[in-house]
Amino acid sequence: MSEPRILFDDGAAYDRGMGQWSLVAGQVFLDWLAPDPGLRWLDVGCGSGAFSELVFRNCAPTEIQGVDPSEAQLAFARTRQLANRAEFQQGDAIALPFTSDRFDAAVMALVIFFVPDPAKGVAEMVRVVRPGGRVAAYAWDNLGGGFPFAPIQDGLRSMGFDPPQPPSVGASRIEAMRELWADAGLQSIETREISVTRGFADFDEYWGVSATVGRTRPMLDAMQPAEIEQLKARVRARMTIDSKGRVTHTARANAIKGRVPE
Ligand SMILES: C[S@@+](CC[C@H](N)C(=O)[O-])C[C@H]1O[C@@H](n2cnc3c(N)ncnc32)[C@H](O)[C@@H]1O
Repeated sequence: MSEPRILFDDGAAYDRGMGQWSLVAGQVFLDWLAPDPGLRWLDVGCGSGAFSELVFRNCAPTEIQGVDPSEAQLAFARTRQLANRAEFQQGDAIALPFTSDRFDAAVMALVIFFVPDPAKGVAEMVRVVRPGGRVAAYAWDNLGGGFPFAPIQDGLRSMGFDPPQPPSVGASRIEAMRELWADAGLQSIETREISVTRGFADFDEYWGVSATVGRTRPMLDAMQPAEIEQLKARVRARMTIDSKGRVTHTARANAIKGRVPE
């Protein structure tokens, strides 16, 4: 299977750049799911295993299976100490390598907008989760300006560039998620917004963790130094910076949960 055209050089780069945002949002998401202990979990698009580790630490799972198309990410996930409770294998959300009714809960953490056919991805989660089990997801509200690196993307747009969006970016809107979950036959559907505010010592720290990873990086790498300085000025102007130069930024995600009919 070919690597997706997207994302991060490796799991460690992901953890440095996006990982800190996703850990905070993932924790809020898990608290909201409030799962029983002892469940069999499927982490679809597990990537570097950051969310799997949250499940391991918070949910006393009996089992976690992680699936992701990226071998580089999976290699990093396999280095995590998860007490032999987790397994990570290559696979695609639209053709999950599991039998039906295999899990108690399936989740997509920051993944649904990358899945080329989100409806098929949700149908696959429903297939592999037992009746009464949970199917849930959360995703940055990219179209609503919630992406952690949105100020950089907005700055690029203001300079005439067209920063790449995930292929199914529309699936991260809350109304689109509701429709996907309802169309898949899920019941007891609930949604919420998750806000994550992070502080940075200064603008350079935000820039360092944001501009060095992800889908926008090749675009930045190809820019002239003068253009980068212009972009930085535009990004800075979009951020909340206090009198000591400290930066705060708030990202927003949409989350959804539902149950497979009994
Ligand atoms: C933003 S990362 C999220 C990783 C992890 N879930 C977390 O919360 O830290 C998105 C992940 O989706 C994966 N992905 C992309 N397309 C996918 C697909 N069709 N099926 C499953 N995963 C996919 C990527 O390889 C990447 O690891």
